[in-house]
Amino acid sequence: MNTQNHTGPNPEFIKGLFNSISTNYDLANHVITLGLLTAWRKKFIKLSGAQEGNSVLDCATGTGDLALEFKKVVGDSGRVIGSDFSEGMLKLAPLKAKAQNLDIQFELGDVTQLQHEDNCFDITSIGYGIRNVVDPKLGLSEMARVTKSGGYVMVLETGENQNPVVRPFIKLYFNYVVPTLGAIANSNKGAYKYLNQSSGKFPCEADFVRLMETTGLFSKIKYYPLMGGASYIYKAQVK
Ligand SMILES: C[S@@+](CC[C@H](N)C(=O)[O-])C[C@H]1O[C@@H](n2cnc3c(N)ncnc32)[C@H](O)[C@@H]1O
Repeated sequence: MNTQNHTGPNPEFIKGLFNSISTNYDLANHVITLGLLTAWRKKFIKLSGAQEGNSVLDCATGTGDLALEFKKVVGDSGRVIGSDFSEGMLKLAPLKAKAQNLDIQFELGDVTQLQHEDNCFDITSIGYGIRNVVDPKLGLSEMARVTKSGGYVMVLETGENQNPVVRPFIKLYFNYVVPTLGAIANSNKGAYKYLNQSSGKFPCEADFVRLMETTGLFSKIKYYPLMGGASYIYKAQVK
């Protein structure tokens, strides 16, 4: 796969798509991933090494679940900002934070042009967002720019299960069951069909590591498969 010049979809199309599915996004996600997402998010936070007092920027935060989990770890002395370019998705995040009594700042922002200064976060993260970004290399570079030297950029993204026996069943599930479940929860079958197809076209595992390497901004990059590669966690230290 040519990772160097990978280009993603039109940002206006992506913004419209997420605005259209925001209302029941959480429910649909939970059903589609059979409840596994909660555990994957917790593993993501643990692998990030986040500690009390850290500052974290969660890009493409959507309805804010990763930001909420980070805030529980960094505590009152830490700071978490969740940013996203979809107003619809972002509307729900502060309500969830308030319900859990968590003080998180949510803001409109595009990961390809972050409105933060250089070197200001210990950890910058993105969950199931980078494959929707028109220029993922630019998005990753921006994330590295705002992260302190020695800090971490964390990515959670879909992948392909590497087990030849299990893979066809997972493909069937994602090609046929997921769009239907998405339609039931959200009345937008097309959106879930699109999201599934875009997942198959996006580099994962070593290919994604190569894409990160092309930025020249990371020293160590590690990856961790979830459910045999259905999703991956990437952890990269900023130079
Ligand atoms: C699949 S959702 C993931 C939301 C959340 N991180 C999660 O794990 O549930 C993808 C999100 O990426 C956002 N997004 C896509 N491209 C973006 C960009 N260039 N800048 C900021 N947000 C973007 C969308 O608006 C959407 O909320």
